[in-house]
Amino acid sequence: MKILCVCLGNICRSPLAEGVLKKVAVENNVVMEVRSAGTANYHIGDPADHRSVQIGKKYNIDISSHRGQQFSVEHFDQFDLILVMDQSNLQNVRNLARNENDLSKINMYRRDGRIVDDPYYGDMMDFEKMYQVLQEHALHWVLFEKQ
Ligand code: 4NP
Repeated sequence: MKILCVCLGNICRSPLAEGVLKKVAVENNVVMEVRSAGTANYHIGDPADHRSVQIGKKYNIDISSHRGQQFSVEHFDQFDLILVMDQSNLQNVRNLARNENDLSKINMYRRDGRIVDDPYYGDMMDFEKMYQVLQEHALHWVLFEKQ
């Protein structure tokens, strides 16, 4: 299973989502490849936001080597699942889909139909809440193949 987590900038939400999924996969002896990307091009090559790095560190998730990349149509061929954080990501990724098969790979990260709020303009409490949401929904995707 290959999963790509997608947000807007690929510096706050999706790098931490990638780290959380990797950790939960290891904890459950599930082998999977997880990466992340942003729909925007603002942060290509940039490290993750220091607040996401800090929250990751708190929970033993090291995302210090992350570098931002932009979502592109080739990712549909390279990944089985594309997990987006909000409706705007959903629309942007859908707009790049070439066919039904591409569309079928796109899912909201949260399975309750809610979004993972963008913490970029928030404070550390917003980053902490983001981590809790990412963690809460991670096991669903790690066990997805077995369901
Ligand atoms: P992310 O957060 O999509 O979770 O990485 C953002 C990061 C950067 C910007 C917006 C959201 N920005 O406007 O630069």
